[in-house]
Amino acid sequence: MRKIMPGCFLLVLVGLIFTLTHANTTAPTDEPAQPIVRFLGSQACKECHPVPYKAWTGMKHARAYVILAWYVSREMVGEGDPPKQNKACLHCHSTAANLPVERRAPDFHIEDGVQCESCHGPGEHHVEKERARKEGKEMDFPKTADYSKPSEKTCKACHRPLAPHGTLKIPPLDYEKAWPLIEHEEEKNGLTPSESKETNGSK
Ligand code: HEC
Ligand code: HEC
Ligand code: HEC
Ligand code: HEC
Repeated sequence: MRKIMPGCFLLVLVGLIFTLTHANTTAPTDEPAQPIVRFLGSQACKECHPVPYKAWTGMKHARAYVILAWYVSREMVGEGDPPKQNKACLHCHSTAANLPVERRAPDFHIEDGVQCESCHGPGEHHVEKERARKEGKEMDFPKTADYSKPSEKTCKACHRPLAPHGTLKIPPLDYEKAWPLIEHEEEKNGLTPSESKETNGSK
């Protein structure tokens, strides 16, 4: 027995060191995969995507931060930080709020709630690329300039069962029913992806 003990202890120690040194290798939840791209805010999308922009101003998402001033929100946090400064609430009721300040463009407003970039990702490179293409410049841009399509999984990052909402009894998100409430196709108006492809040549 006495001979086995040190071996066991060593194993536990190695395990502990491994846990401590590897604990930070997974990305924190508020950190997107590409840490260099800045968030610009919905205002920056308005010029080229007027239809989605107008739809967004009518969404509850645009008021997700404002709702944190409601007395119900204040009751939820109890003795904790007030909801508008509470990182836990801001994580889902705003955009990029918990990231270092340099990740947000100077005229970015946390107060604008769940913005375009909450679902589509930070827009800095996309906007730089589309500006250049509009001016007819052919340039190479990083992968981060191309948006992939958000899906139900994107929604579930925020629309999930959650402790502070226990009292609200919010039913789980039904994507088929929820999407029509926030749908923002731009087919009929403004600059559409197909038009831009025709005028600017192949992508
Ligand atoms: C200078 C104009 C311009 C600005 C500003 C701009 N976009 Fe775009 N966006 C475009 C064009 C043009 C396309 C079509 C690109 C293509 O089809 O290759 C596009 C495509 C998209 C798509 C569809 C991608 C796809 O493949 O289906 C999304 C989503 C999008 N933009 C979101 C945004 C968001 C969010 C912002 C603000 C952060 C923004 N855009 C700002 C011009 C712009
Ligand atoms: C994991 C994401 C998440 C976190 C964290 C979160 N919320 Fe929410 N909250 C949501 C979503 C999603 C909804 C909308 C659900 C629905 O209506 O289907 C919501 C709805 C609400 C509503 C109801 C809004 C209305 O229009 O009726 C209040 C109030 C609220 N949240 C307050 C808070 C407060 C205060 C905190 C911090 C203690 C918080 N939330 C933290 C995701 C979150
Ligand atoms: C709550 C999440 C969410 C928000 C907020 C949001 N979008 Fe979207 N957006 C989506 C999803 C999901 C799609 C559809 C992807 C697909 O075609 O399956 C989409 C599609 C688009 C498209 C392609 C539409 C088309 O006609 O093909 C554009 C452009 C776009 N969004 C721009 C924006 C802009 C600009 C804003 C802000 C003003 C915004 N979105 C806000 C989730 C969001
Ligand atoms: C960054 C977090 C976040 C993401 C991502 C997100 N939502 Fe939300 N959503 C919220 C919050 C917070 C609210 C509550 C806003 C309020 O009531 O003030 C909400 C409200 C809604 C509502 C209004 C509910 C009602 O009672 O009318 C719909 C519909 C909705 N979201 C659909 C979606 C869909 C569909 C997606 C994915 C394409 C999505 N959301 C992605 C945070 C998010």
